[in-house]
Amino acid sequence: MCVSAGSIPSHKTPHRPAMLTHSALLLTLCVVHLLAPFSALPFEQKGFWDFRMDGDIGELMKMMRDEEEGSAVEEIPPTEPVCPFSCHCHLRVVQCSDLGLTAVPYDLPTDTRLLDLQNNYITELRENDFKGLSNLYALVLNNNQISRVHPRAFMPLQRMQKLYFSHNYLTAIPKNLPSSLVELRIHDNRIRKVAEGAFAGLGNMNCIEMGRNPLQNSAFEPGAFRGLTLSYLRISEARLTGVPTDLPDSLRELHLDHNQIQAIEMMDLSRYTNLYRLGLGFNHIRMIEDGSLYYLPDLRELHLENNRLNTIPSGLPNMKYLQVVYLHGNNISHVGVNDFCPVGFGMKRTYYSAISLFSNPINLWEVQPNTFRCVTDRLAVQFGNYRK
Ligand SMILES: *[C@@H]1O[C@H](CO)[C@@H](O)[C@H](O)[C@H]1NC(C)=O
Repeated sequence: MCVSAGSIPSHKTPHRPAMLTHSALLLTLCVVHLLAPFSALPFEQKGFWDFRMDGDIGELMKMMRDEEEGSAVEEIPPTEPVCPFSCHCHLRVVQCSDLGLTAVPYDLPTDTRLLDLQNNYITELRENDFKGLSNLYALVLNNNQISRVHPRAFMPLQRMQKLYFSHNYLTAIPKNLPSSLVELRIHDNRIRKVAEGAFAGLGNMNCIEMGRNPLQNSAFEPGAFRGLTLSYLRISEARLTGVPTDLPDSLRELHLDHNQIQAIEMMDLSRYTNLYRLGLGFNHIRMIEDGSLYYLPDLRELHLENNRLNTIPSGLPNMKYLQVVYLHGNNISHVGVNDFCPVGFGMKRTYYSAISLFSNPINLWEVQPNTFRCVTDRLAVQFGNYRK
């Protein structure tokens, strides 16, 4: 399960260890908050949309405890576990962050549930680095220099659910990830290629964050995502020029912001009928073909800010549940009276709670007040000033 962590996202790459002391405890957490109510949604949306780059170990520990509750209580063996030199070991959490380590310590307690190795200088994961850690729940490797992972390195980690591998030098998805894995964060690496079957056997996986990798559309071999039933996928800050068409059709949330997508064509979204949130902000989109949004009947949020659109995309009035539409920072000069709201009653199940249109060359006096008849209140529509 992905867990929300509602706070302002940081788009900054963490600095190297010297810069991090307390904030070293930050690590990425996944946010899928799908069924949260949207009442009073602010324009500066936080947390759940732009999902948080960094959470903290405390949050992870809480998740770990929550998931342990309800399961039969294990007898903790009375032996005194050893703790690797310089690390802190407490309640099966082994904390070895910010220690200047160049390799994974070798004497890790076998009952470790959470291993934090972030902000070190580890370059490689070797075959026996995690030997015996069959109880590990989460492994945090953020902000190292790992470019090589032995194909058998993760084999012992039969219960691992969270793998946080952001800010490293990986060029491919590590091989033989455990089938128990639920969440993978591999943001800011050097992945150029996702091979067919890269995620094979990972049927429990719910959430992948793989933004800020040099991924072009051709990076994904056909079948790259086969076997996954993800809810959440983020491929932001990459080199995509179009919406990838072979992603899991189970997705509820898809983030493709900060790419170079030029257009949305008719069938581009046809596979993603389960989407609740779609993020396409900060691309180069000039055109959204009429009918392409028809395939997203459940969509709640649509982010198209900072693109090159000349018109409001067609199809919005028919989207029964759509509540948030970001269109600011485009080149839209005209807003038609039926661009957002259906004609007649009973069509729209939920009213809009946020529509942003500022930073567009719109003549306000040409917009009919009736245009926003299916919006919760006037403050939900933001025009602001257009300056050029
Ligand atoms: C904005 O749209 C107008 C036409 O409405 C066009 O002449 C102009 O070139 C567009 N600007 C950009 C930056 O695309």
